[in-house]
Amino acid sequence: MPTRKKIGLIGAGNIGGELARLFANKELGDVWLYDIAAKENFAKGKALDLEQNGAVLGYDSNIRGTANWADLEGADVLVVTAGIPRKPGQSRDDLVATNLPIIRDVANNAKKYAPNAFVIVISNPLDAMVYEYKRVVGAPKNLVVGMAGVLDSARFTLFIAREAGVSVKDIRTTVLGGHGDDMVPVLSHTTVNGIPVTKFIAQDKLNAIIDRTRKGGGEIVNLMGTSAYYAPASSAVAMAESYLLDQKRVLPVATYLDGEYGYKDLFIGVPAVIGGKGVEKILELDLTEDEKGLLKKSAASVQAVVDVVKKST
Ligand code: APR
Repeated sequence: MPTRKKIGLIGAGNIGGELARLFANKELGDVWLYDIAAKENFAKGKALDLEQNGAVLGYDSNIRGTANWADLEGADVLVVTAGIPRKPGQSRDDLVATNLPIIRDVANNAKKYAPNAFVIVISNPLDAMVYEYKRVVGAPKNLVVGMAGVLDSARFTLFIAREAGVSVKDIRTTVLGGHGDDMVPVLSHTTVNGIPVTKFIAQDKLNAIIDRTRKGGGEIVNLMGTSAYYAPASSAVAMAESYLLDQKRVLPVATYLDGEYGYKDLFIGVPAVIGGKGVEKILELDLTEDEKGLLKKSAASVQAVVDVVKKST
């Protein structure tokens, strides 16, 4: 008998709600929206609203709110947004002190109730939180990833498409490294359907686009007073969909490196094939010396936050 996949969303806030809407709308499975006890009714209300939305839009996914981890037993996919988002003036790294105990709480419960799930962490500071999640759960490296690169590449794509006057669908690009202001948009692999982007946009404009991409999250925090949620949720759903449907999409994800690109025991963003086994392959791009240097700097920033996390165990 075919059964629906079980999708657990840990954190029923802004990203959690949008994730639930997208998962249900695509009928990728039944959705549990989990939040802490103080937010249980909020999670239940949001779930009910979203389930009623299905009666308008025509999807049949069940959506439930809960504050009970037992409801997540045997989940196939978990997406973790538990934590506090940024406020204007804060960097992602400023969130370590608040979000570290939260990610540990989530990981300890996930280890008990859904140890075999494919897990996508979104909570910030992303690369350190996903590292800590994997460490606590002891999960295999192919089953735990962080969502950053799909979002950062989408921002880069949008700015390029608008400047070049072409569709977002025809931009091919990737962003490597940590999900911080020194992330590495990779110009040498950026094309408009195979044509180098430098044929469309002058270098000074490209430099400005790279700078805007790096600060893309902060730009929205400054405007809204909290962090983005539509594009982050879509990015995580693209990753989950590739896993659930074994699509084998090549997506930039924060994945555990074990020597690739010269880094070990570190999560940073690199292109990977996501299929039914999770991270099935990490792709190593040929980078220019300049790009290698930028990646080294970005990896060092991630390592510094991971070191803070390690010290507080
Ligand atoms: N377990 C589960 N949920 C938790 C826990 C916990 N231990 N602690 C807090 N939460 C919940 C909060 O109650 C809140 O409902 O996480 C939810 C976070 O939702 P929002 O505050 O709306 O934040 P959101 O915009 O969804 O971002 C969440 O993703 O992009 C990152 O920087 C962002 O770290 C932040 C996270």
